[in-house]
Amino acid sequence: MCGIVGYIGHREAVPILIEGLKKLEYRGYDSAGIAVLKDGIRIEKQVGKLEFLEQELDGKIFTARVGIGHTRWATHGKPSKNNAHPHADCKGRFVVVHNGIIENYIPLKEWLQEQGHKFISETDTEVLPHLLEHFYQGDLVTAVQQVIAKVRGSYAMAALAAEEPDKIVVARNDSPLIVGLGENENYLASDIPALLKHTRQTLILEDGEIAVISARGVKVFGREGQEINKKVFEVKWKAEQAEKHGYEHFMLKEIFEQPKVLRDTLRGRISDDNAAVVLDEISLTPEEIKNTNKIFITACGTAYHAGLVGKYVIEKLARLPVEVDIASEFRYREPIIEPGSLVIVVSQSGETADTLAALREAHRQGAKVIAITNVVDSSIAREADEVIYTWAGPEIAVASTKAYTTQLTAMYLLALHFAGIRGTQEPEEIKRIITDMRNISRGVESILASTEHIEAFAGHYASCEDAFFIGRGLDYTVAMEGSLKLKEISYIHAEAYAAGELKHGTLALIVENVPVVALATQPALLEKMISNIKEVHARGASIIALALEGMTEIEEVAERVIYVPKIHPILTSVLTVVPLQLLAYYMAVARGCDVDKPRNLAKAVTVE
Ligand code: M6R
Repeated sequence: MCGIVGYIGHREAVPILIEGLKKLEYRGYDSAGIAVLKDGIRIEKQVGKLEFLEQELDGKIFTARVGIGHTRWATHGKPSKNNAHPHADCKGRFVVVHNGIIENYIPLKEWLQEQGHKFISETDTEVLPHLLEHFYQGDLVTAVQQVIAKVRGSYAMAALAAEEPDKIVVARNDSPLIVGLGENENYLASDIPALLKHTRQTLILEDGEIAVISARGVKVFGREGQEINKKVFEVKWKAEQAEKHGYEHFMLKEIFEQPKVLRDTLRGRISDDNAAVVLDEISLTPEEIKNTNKIFITACGTAYHAGLVGKYVIEKLARLPVEVDIASEFRYREPIIEPGSLVIVVSQSGETADTLAALREAHRQGAKVIAITNVVDSSIAREADEVIYTWAGPEIAVASTKAYTTQLTAMYLLALHFAGIRGTQEPEEIKRIITDMRNISRGVESILASTEHIEAFAGHYASCEDAFFIGRGLDYTVAMEGSLKLKEISYIHAEAYAAGELKHGTLALIVENVPVVALATQPALLEKMISNIKEVHARGASIIALALEGMTEIEEVAERVIYVPKIHPILTSVLTVVPLQLLAYYMAVARGCDVDKPRNLAKAVTVE
């Protein structure tokens, strides 16, 4: 997730671009750049936060009235000046900023290189200006149309051509892009906060649309090149609301971003016929995968919980034994890592000190390490042998939500990849799971489409002192994450238990009206789970059950039920956690807690 801005009009462009980028820094902040057009294209970029670019520009004179800018959250290639946007073609006649992922950039890059194009970055984006150079015949709009017909993936892009200083051409597919309308000046941005200082009149572009922005007007064209009469959308949000896209907190915004980031994490990693996972980033050979005899997964907090799901799915699908450790334990417990063992570390930030130390311990013992992380070129990404990136975009709320569900997705991909190569599942079963995986984001969307009942349940339980989460199998691992979410943001004491374990001690804690969240999404374990629910119900607990649509028998034992869409039982974790995130969120809000910055906690724990 990056931020893009653009301006064309009668004022000095550079300060307007910089101001706009400042409002988008929450979308990414590892490097930034601008390109302005006056007697040719001039590009300025800098690594690090926007303030470094500002320092770089300080004292320089531009007097340009048109320009585009970008603040980057690295996906392809580490944060560096060469990888920073804007990107140009060979002769500096075209310049592009881009947010999203061009899935087929490797074959396109090879094809362009064969024709003599020289690339200077590791990014997917750089193919765009070179494609413009290839197609351009004196009309930027036509060239952009030809470019987008060639690329696959997600993009919000803005392009300038040195020969056409009177326009910016933008295109969108699966990445937000908004045009701001002014008086003899117009703007573009990937998000509303960047525009609010100048205008509240906007055009929200839809997938497949191209807009030609000049100082005097904006023309929008559809997929077939037909001109579209777009309705002007007037933004009513206050400036501080806009950064959170109208949501009260970043946590809620990030919960609602999950359908999109789940799609991003799957993008390009599944074959078109759903028969196989395509994990090109993993260089382990089929031989190495077949010879792996044990997997260790290590991580902290929410990432550790993703690891627990990983154990469940890798063991089930790839039939490989998996041990999961909290990273701060792994590093000191002298784990026995023998030849044939593989270590997976999971970390949103890629900077967690204990996880990094665990990775080093694994290396010290000679193991190969795969990192699942969200931050390109983070310490963990750099030190691991292989990296699977989760494309969750920057997560700002301390409580991890979208990072967790994308980590789960990465785990599923890895487990299916291994299962395919090791031949431990029938091809039809792999296809069934992959087909359902494609639909997961729609399942999350449908959960998010009506959240009122979850908010009402949260209101009912908000004043409780203790809460319990129970489940069996995969549900138990998600129960742990639900419990962590609740305690970290609402400060309610919460514990998760394997439902079958309650009677071995914890049942003594169940008293009248204590809330018990019972996860019952596994058809094979439903009867057992219902018995466990009855055990706590008989002691006076108030039950909120989570079940798959159609499992109505649960209503006989639960006071409140939250249903999630039916899906292959092995994939339920991605769906069941969403109501738990919402429950924790609404309970914390009802208690007046500082949801995005809970007490005593930090987003990245870089100390032991
Ligand atoms: O950046 P990491 O994924 O390595 O962070 C690990 C934990 O600190 C993190 O998941 C923490 O538990 C979250 N605050 C939970 O919401």
